[in-house]
Amino acid sequence: MILVTNFKTYPESSGDNAVKLAKIHEEVAGTGKEIIIAVQPSDILGVSSLKIPVFAQHVDPVDPGRNTGFITPESVKQAGAVGVMLNHSEHPMKPWDVEKAIRLCKKAGLKTLVFVSDLSEASDLKGYRPDYLAYEVPELVGSGRPISKEKPEEIQDFVHILEDTKIVPLCGAGISCAEDVKIAKKLGTRGVVVASAITKAKDPKKVIEDLVNI
Ligand code: G3P
Repeated sequence: MILVTNFKTYPESSGDNAVKLAKIHEEVAGTGKEIIIAVQPSDILGVSSLKIPVFAQHVDPVDPGRNTGFITPESVKQAGAVGVMLNHSEHPMKPWDVEKAIRLCKKAGLKTLVFVSDLSEASDLKGYRPDYLAYEVPELVGSGRPISKEKPEEIQDFVHILEDTKIVPLCGAGISCAEDVKIAKKLGTRGVVVASAITKAKDPKKVIEDLVNI
């Protein structure tokens, strides 16, 4: 199972702390586990030399040029990202913006991980062919109530929606321990997206190891 850690903007995973937490992920990934970290744009460069894939948490669907304050796919690529996340429920995008962002990311050589909040959104966005689609129920985000236990039927339906594609199905929200990941695996997903259980942990390494050693 793939582990994607979304650093969000928690103080525990921003700036110098982003580098510390990224190094811990690198250590665990070194044992042969598939781990991706998603950091803020300002932290990409600081973690880009580590041996771990780094994703940007968001990019805007804009070309380089007159776009003050926007984040271009090219800029995160140059900073060292290998992929981007798009349309997180905390940073929703219009479908046509998701489509354009995916197109620009593909052109820039970046992988794309798109979030969906419900099954109809999954059906709508799968046609844009991102590399990963992650199903997260917004009310479970940060709740400590794992989506794999709370919404098992919906996860199975989500996996079914992607069956005729090459898109990797992921799920996230409230995932905090190995058991949550095991259930997500049994339901057919190929990985989980996790934030607070790792970023807020007293011993993040222990939590990461628990999540990947299933
Ligand atoms: O993208 C992952 C995130 O939204 C899940 O958050 O804190 O419930 O693991 P959390």
